[in-house]
Amino acid sequence: MAFAVASPSSTAISGPPFSCSSASSELKASQIGSVRLLERSHGQSSALNISQRKSAVKPLNAEPKRNDMIVPFAATAIAPEVEEKEKVEAEDYEQLAKDLENASPLEIMDKALEKFGNDIAIAFSGAEDVVLIEYAYLTGRPFRVFSLDTGRLNPETYRFFDAVEKHYGIRIEYMFPDAVEVQALVRSKGLFSFYEDGHQECCRVRKVRPLRRALKGLRAWITGQRKDQSPGTRSEIPVVQVDPVFEGLDGGIGSLVKWNPVANVNGVDIWNFLRTMDVPVNSLHSQGYVSIGCEPCTRPVLPGQHEREGRWWWEDAKAKECGLHKGNIKQEDTAQLNSNGNGAAAETDIFNSQNLVTLSRAGIENLAKLGSRKEPWIVVLYAPWCQFCQAMEGSYLELADKLAGSGVKVGKFRADGEQKEYAKAELQLQSFPTILFFPGHSAQPIKYPSEKRDVDSLMAFVNALR
Ligand code: ADX
Ligand code: SF4
Repeated sequence: MAFAVASPSSTAISGPPFSCSSASSELKASQIGSVRLLERSHGQSSALNISQRKSAVKPLNAEPKRNDMIVPFAATAIAPEVEEKEKVEAEDYEQLAKDLENASPLEIMDKALEKFGNDIAIAFSGAEDVVLIEYAYLTGRPFRVFSLDTGRLNPETYRFFDAVEKHYGIRIEYMFPDAVEVQALVRSKGLFSFYEDGHQECCRVRKVRPLRRALKGLRAWITGQRKDQSPGTRSEIPVVQVDPVFEGLDGGIGSLVKWNPVANVNGVDIWNFLRTMDVPVNSLHSQGYVSIGCEPCTRPVLPGQHEREGRWWWEDAKAKECGLHKGNIKQEDTAQLNSNGNGAAAETDIFNSQNLVTLSRAGIENLAKLGSRKEPWIVVLYAPWCQFCQAMEGSYLELADKLAGSGVKVGKFRADGEQKEYAKAELQLQSFPTILFFPGHSAQPIKYPSEKRDVDSLMAFVNALR
């Protein structure tokens, strides 16, 4: 079996919304490491043993620093060819989704792998989405798989990951949360804070940020989302879409394509297929679990109960997206979910760092008034519920780290709620996030004009103006 990885044909992408309107809540966000198909064992005869497999896989970076991108080995190896293919024509993904609406999951998977080669990977949760791996295997193409190991998965799920690796002769690329962030959360709030103040904060640290890192190394990803999983949030997912939330390798919203090959398949058919193909499954399923996430946040469901009722059961049904697929939540629901009824967000704050100054209204007014500031400032006008703000959190914090002690101050001003009118009138706020540079020598703040919010682009902006 050849180890070659198909060359990616990267794609210009037609665009979804870029930012949260300042008038309503909306979302955005961002990376994967490398997993290479090693050998299609799918049975005993051709399976590689572990040591052979180890030698065939480039060791992954250990825990990457915040927002670091893990560049896939194979993609690196074929970089010149990738550049050649960068200029492939733009694809209209809405049209493609319509064209593929009645296609089989196998056809959709084949199309996805053919189109993106080594720049696409399957997001595998350790549940019945193993069906994606089986379909990928059946296409006969190389494929990559990653999983977000939150550190809170059931023991059965870890065993299952191992069984899947052996069955298909693949290495799953595990993405781990940032140890410092987990420490901070657990030391300040304990191990089960999600039962007290909701799952969003823990999911953000343990799932969403690692996912963002993973996706930053890809141009497309494949999920096992299905319409029938959650009538509240998933009833309209297309088989392929420009990812409305996360960023891919090229940066910026619109740089990542999300494939949902089993969007239109119902659970019963998934299970018939898994049985027919004799695919290994998570042993939790035989204990009444249907949808499977982290151990403390998943429980079995009773006959007749919807599968989603086994996830975050102590919360409002509409909120049952952990952030991996937040784009599924409609704007009005997001606004409602994130509001405490007084218009103030109940969600925890973002952009927290010792290198970043939280500006009050008086603080930013003062900054805006000063004719000659001692130091230049870069300030983000944000709303913590805005997915585009959440998505740039890693790069903005990294920017703050890089600029610490450099003479440029980094700040944030929460500009939703009652501050919104002021920010619109005085600070050029049109949508979240708005990034302003306050030069040292002039009163007029300069608005960051680009949708590219990676740390290098932000740094280039600062360096051009400081
Ligand atoms: S969740 O958002 O509620 O956690 P769900 O469990 O329904 O998601 O899974 C939907 C799809 O999201 C999965 O098929 C998979 O593609 C992706 N996914 C969910 N959890 C993980 C995970 N831990 N690692 C990788 N992908 C995941
Ligand atoms: Fe944390 Fe529960 Fe989310 Fe897992 S599902 S990351 S344990 S809140």
